[in-house]
Amino acid sequence: MKDMFKLDGKIAIVTGGAGGIGEALALGLSIHGAKVVVSSRNQEAIEKVASQISKASGNEAIGIACDVTDEASMTNLVDAVVKKYGRVDILVNAMGMNIKHDAFQYPIEDWDKLFNVNVKGTMIACKAAGKAMREQKKGVIINLSSVRGIRGYTGGNSGYCATKGAVELITKSLALEWAPLGIRVNAIGPALIITPGTKHIAQNPELAKKYASLVPMGRIGLPEDLAGACVFLASEAAGFISGQTIYVDGGLTAA
Ligand SMILES: NC(=O)c1ccc[n+]([C@@H]2O[C@H](COP(=O)([O-])OP(=O)(O)OC[C@H]3O[C@@H](n4cnc5c(N)ncnc54)[C@H](OP(=O)(O)O)[C@@H]3O)[C@@H](O)[C@H]2O)c1
Repeated sequence: MKDMFKLDGKIAIVTGGAGGIGEALALGLSIHGAKVVVSSRNQEAIEKVASQISKASGNEAIGIACDVTDEASMTNLVDAVVKKYGRVDILVNAMGMNIKHDAFQYPIEDWDKLFNVNVKGTMIACKAAGKAMREQKKGVIINLSSVRGIRGYTGGNSGYCATKGAVELITKSLALEWAPLGIRVNAIGPALIITPGTKHIAQNPELAKKYASLVPMGRIGLPEDLAGACVFLASEAAGFISGQTIYVDGGLTAA
């Protein structure tokens, strides 16, 4: 029962690791002992984040660029990590995007773009890391869903909600398919979190008040609010948990 949350020596890939949430999750894993490979399409951005993480935690962190929508690119990332470290213990899929449109006006090209990253990208990343984990007979995958994966939403979010619903069911299906292989697949479902993409909300007092009032705990989330759930799901403390989403939402989905 000792040290259940320790990730010492574990090798973690965080896709979307240069994003607001990905960086916080990568830092959380790193502080708890994992060697973290931060990934996104922008090599300069991930190298900067990896260096900051390494400085803060004292553990090795590197950046390797990858486009999750390109299967060859994702496979190259996993191959490079296996070549360098011999294994992949943890995959966190913190990449993602939103494109908002009124449903009647939703351009189908934008619908495709959104599904390409959020749904296809999640599957490609799971598939590539899952193959390495199958060889090891052990591994943990954590996908980023959202409270919008189980709740519809207005404001042009039909596409986003649909992609996150898909992420929820990719998570459950892979959890079932890969449980016999020793691979656990779970998700984190955040409510609104202040990141570079949503900081305009925090900066607008009226909007900030409105969003905070929707959350039973009365505040908007921060990226670091998600790190505990990520470390927990990645660790032996969650060794018998698979196919679940932990909603980190200040109580929002309790209603
Ligand atoms: N922020 C929120 O309120 C909130 C709430 C619930 C759920 N989420 C989910 O949490 C995840 C992270 O959100 P965030 O707010 O941290 O977003 P963010 O700051 O925009 O970060 C997104 C990350 O994904 C990367 N990315 C985008 N397309 C990619 C691709 N094709 N291949 C590889 N990387 C790609 C981006 O880097 P590059 O563009 O450089 O590749 C960036 O690092 C997303 O899945 C989001 O839907 C967010």
